Amino acid sequence: MIKRRHLIAGNWKMNLDVKESVKLVESIAPHIADLDEVDVLIAPPFTSLGAVNNAIGNSGIKLGAQNMHWEMNGAYTGEISGPMLKEAGCTHVILGHSERRILFKETDDLIDLKVKAAVVQGLIPILCIGETLEERENGKTFDVIKNQLDNSLLYLRKNNAGMPVSTILAYEPVWAIGTGRTASGEQAQEVHHFIRKWIKEEFNDETAARVRILYGGSVNPDNVADLMSQPDIDGGLVGGASLKADLFIKIMHFQNKLL
Ligand code: PGA
Repeated sequence: MIKRRHLIAGNWKMNLDVKESVKLVESIAPHIADLDEVDVLIAPPFTSLGAVNNAIGNSGIKLGAQNMHWEMNGAYTGEISGPMLKEAGCTHVILGHSERRILFKETDDLIDLKVKAAVVQGLIPILCIGETLEERENGKTFDVIKNQLDNSLLYLRKNNAGMPVSTILAYEPVWAIGTGRTASGEQAQEVHHFIRKWIKEEFNDETAARVRILYGGSVNPDNVADLMSQPDIDGGLVGGASLKADLFIKIMHFQNKLL
């Protein structure tokens, strides 16, 4: 059986200036060495990427961006491309976050273009999907998830090479983001299992066994162990709690609570 390494990823959103970003990385970095089979990633705002990359040094923390444009360059005022992110030290990019979908009207078609660009340009996409409260209450969770997967991963589904096994998916129920309301381990596992089954059907067993599926939505030191103990949950995408060094360090060390 393939063992997947957990990934704890911090999505800083539009928070922290350069100085605060560097300070936060410097607080987290010394706590990476004693982690066992757990990867750590942070996604600061664009303006902090360069300085954070320097501060990361060889600590092993991975660097991600929160968004990107699908073209390499051109007349796209206000946008950032994959090659620019790579130059700043990024290996990963969060795509299709519900805040981008809802507040900035990003559609699955557009997210599919971004996933394609990331893969072609050598960045690892962290594709976010998730239902709203209304959709959950109307029993539409699985339809919504399937639809988002079908359409945001259209390029990869048609790609002869399939989906790179390094691709990361993140299930983030919209009703749990920034609300303090978390899906229970069981609720999240149900959806993660559905997503892994979808990968198996669309791609193959090997891809389904290797692709990591993160959970996001009010992850904190108290609920992380329950979530991470679920068989199909391979890590967390952490918003609010990733901005506080003590909370994020506790979340990274969720295994101490599993013992
Ligand atoms: P939250 O955000 O942990 O603050 O709920 C998670 C996310 O939006 O990725």
